[in-house]
Amino acid sequence: MRFLFLGDMVGRTGRTAVFERLPGLVEDWRLDFVVVNGENAAGGFGITEDIFETTVAAGADVVTTGNHVFDQREALTFASRHDRFLRPANYPPGTPGRGSGLFEAKNGARVLVANVMGRAFMHPELDDPFRAIGDIVSACPLGEQADAVIVDFHAEATSEKQCVGHFLDGRASVVVGTHTHVPTADHQILPGGTAYQSDAGMCGDYDSSLGMEKEEPLNRFLTRVPRGRFEAAQGPATICGLAVEISDRTGLAEKVSAVRIGPRLEPVVPSFW
Ligand SMILES: [Fe+2]
Ligand SMILES: [Fe+2]
Repeated sequence: MRFLFLGDMVGRTGRTAVFERLPGLVEDWRLDFVVVNGENAAGGFGITEDIFETTVAAGADVVTTGNHVFDQREALTFASRHDRFLRPANYPPGTPGRGSGLFEAKNGARVLVANVMGRAFMHPELDDPFRAIGDIVSACPLGEQADAVIVDFHAEATSEKQCVGHFLDGRASVVVGTHTHVPTADHQILPGGTAYQSDAGMCGDYDSSLGMEKEEPLNRFLTRVPRGRFEAAQGPATICGLAVEISDRTGLAEKVSAVRIGPRLEPVVPSFW
């Protein structure tokens, strides 16, 4: 099974790059399943229903999110209407929407996708992410009810991300981090067969601060006096993510590659497709 993950789309430039490039990638690489993180797709803050639907139309099977999921208030209502829209699973009971789902890939595989959020340096009040993802994976085990298991772990601390990778090694096909908006160079297959990358990076303008226009973030570090709002940067976007060949027999990863397509970062595409 051919799987592609794309990191946080940031603003118009990030989402437009995904809308323009993803249909061609699905065709050229004959992708079976695609997950895109959309938590910053609307001006850097949250996602609208229209953007969600356009992302699915462009080829995403599932759109995951993170701490910005409800920045656009309409997400509070559309989250519950769309199976393919996920918010962090370890939000409090009663939060609109869902944190995981079972989906069918183009090759017929049953794919469990879960979106979980970290606590370290982030939101200590959330439910334990290890318990949350452990319960989700136990209820739909790889090789039994699921042919592939994909986890978007949305977190700040690399240590917490690595430990989720080890916690799920052999029980998930892919554990990929999001939220820091910068791709890490540690994509690998863990000893138990789980493809892992601490952060997929963003789909956005890398001449920026995390995809936002750099002037105001810099000003706040220098002076602490806000001069304006954070606005999404508008330069051409680089698409970043992770490509994984998943075994149809075991559901574990066989090959993994970073994906970077665009004008700023060194380009990388999988050599195995
Ligand atoms: Fe983000
Ligand atoms: Fe985030």
